[in-house]
Amino acid sequence: MGLVSAKEMLEKARDGKYAVGQFNINNLEWTKSILQTAEELHSPVILGVSEGAGKYMTGFKTVAAMVKAMIECLNITVPVALHLDHGTYDGCYKCIDAGFSSIMFDGSHFPIEENVAKTKELVAVCNHLGLSLEAEVGAIGGEEDGVIGRGECADPDECKKIADLGVTMLAAGIGNIHGKYPADWPGLSFETLAAVKEKVGDMPLVLHGGTGIPTDMIKKAISLGVAKINVNTECQLAFQAATRKYVEEGKDLVGKGFDPRKLLAPGTQAIKDTVKEKMEIFGSIGKA
Ligand code: 13P
Repeated sequence: MGLVSAKEMLEKARDGKYAVGQFNINNLEWTKSILQTAEELHSPVILGVSEGAGKYMTGFKTVAAMVKAMIECLNITVPVALHLDHGTYDGCYKCIDAGFSSIMFDGSHFPIEENVAKTKELVAVCNHLGLSLEAEVGAIGGEEDGVIGRGECADPDECKKIADLGVTMLAAGIGNIHGKYPADWPGLSFETLAAVKEKVGDMPLVLHGGTGIPTDMIKKAISLGVAKINVNTECQLAFQAATRKYVEEGKDLVGKGFDPRKLLAPGTQAIKDTVKEKMEIFGSIGKA
């Protein structure tokens, strides 16, 4: 199966009360680990690409070509969406052009009228091309690729305005933060989530900042309408810890331990283990 839009997988997840994971990719090892784990566990999956990661991988066209070829060469049969994460207006058009199957336009930092106008335009473009579109209301806290948000709680009326434009899924800030959560983090605002859900009805909701959210909060969020959960930092930390251990144990100094295929193997396995753990918690295993 080639790339698919995220629409059908998220509607199924919403109806089945589970969530599909969006795992951000940075390179070949990341992509391969996530695709293989999804296939092994029969789970649908969304590969997230931030603009910074796209640039790192030399451009969105390289990313789309790599992912499509990998799906074919690895015989991946589960549904895979290739999704732009926190796209700028220009970034959205670049990814559409490059062949992504799903786009996020993050207009959360614009005044609501401008967010509405730009999202509306992209809804028409994505509908025409059969792509899924994620919009955002209420900035997600923390820093991602230089974009710093404070972890706002979205205004449910603004969420309704954006949802009514016909986006596929909506990311609403509910006190979630990208990266590690500070020790004094008060937790997700389920009050906000319930109020947003009340206004947007059936719209699948997206929870960003999936790293480090306790399992009980994840499950509660899913029960309140979250159908997509984004995870990035947790795979990076798992990769880092496993790579550090390999080097600290001196394994890179033994035999051909310097070979990148050996050097990167423990980190690659650590990403797989992390993705598996998340898919178990999100309930997406066997849902492909
Ligand atoms: P984390 O890095 O906190 O897992 O957040 C990922 C994310 O929300 C990507 O959009």
